[in-house]
Amino acid sequence: MTQDHKTKPVVVWITGASQGIGEALALAMAKQGMTVLASARNHEHLANLVDKSKNLEGDIIAYSLDITDQSAVNATASKMMKNHGRIDQAILNAGTYIPIPAESFNSHDVRQQVELNIMGTSYCIEALLPDMIQRGQGLIAINASLAGYRGLPKAAGYGATKAALINMVESLHSELSDHGIHFKVINPGFVKTPLTDKNTFPMPFLIEADKAAQLIINQLNSHCFEIRFPWPFALLMRLIRCLPYSLYFSLIKRMK
Ligand SMILES: NC(=O)c1ccc[n+]([C@@H]2O[C@H](COP(=O)([O-])OP(=O)(O)OC[C@H]3O[C@@H](n4cnc5c(N)ncnc54)[C@H](OP(=O)(O)O)[C@@H]3O)[C@@H](O)[C@H]2O)c1
Repeated sequence: MTQDHKTKPVVVWITGASQGIGEALALAMAKQGMTVLASARNHEHLANLVDKSKNLEGDIIAYSLDITDQSAVNATASKMMKNHGRIDQAILNAGTYIPIPAESFNSHDVRQQVELNIMGTSYCIEALLPDMIQRGQGLIAINASLAGYRGLPKAAGYGATKAALINMVESLHSELSDHGIHFKVINPGFVKTPLTDKNTFPMPFLIEADKAAQLIINQLNSHCFEIRFPWPFALLMRLIRCLPYSLYFSLIKRMK
């Protein structure tokens, strides 16, 4: 579903659209003629994004929003629905990664990631669902991560938030798919963005953000619940997920 009909472009809300995967998604979806509501905190990046979209078939409209502020999320979602009539699709992509080495485990960094990755995403779902349920249609895709499959070194906070998101979306999908609301979970491997630019370790099967955006868009309107990529790394992570603990820990210790 890229276009309902000629006069009614699909309206998609993308959180975390000021850079990285979100920005690439916004441009690719606007290229397809969609009306993209791009939200993030960085006004300057959003203004640049709107500039880049000037000659595309669709539109990008910027909304400054910190998704950890629930009242701002509610106000922005209402404003978007008022301005554009409805939100057909949402890609809840905003998120952060703070590495937490076990020796310096701290709840502060865990909380930061919980507040944004889980709670911020939950505020957006809460703001979107009543209208989608009333209309009996809608699509919400949550950007989690292959890191949510199992506990990985230095990811005690990040991985826990992404595992929680995968579980949350499974739960919502099982209850709402028969009512016309479709949930999808996006589980990327390594994608080259400002988030991963700070990594100092080698990132296997690293792909560009534009490629990630295309892989997401290709599967967004398919029947599959999970969008995972790149396939060799996703396959490897799925195999690792099935390992018994003894094998899993001996393998994972070599990654430290
Ligand atoms: N890159 C990867 O390898 C990879 C792999 C798996 C999963 N993911 C997931 O994919 C998503 C996007 O990652 P990315 O690599 O594109 O990251 P990124 O380059 O760091 O971009 C993150 C986006 O989230 C926004 N954001 C951060 N805090 C926010 C807040 N409080 N309120 C609203 N927006 C906020 C940022 O914009 P502002 O700073 O302007 O607010 C930015 O647009 C994340 O959920 C990440 O966990 C990424």
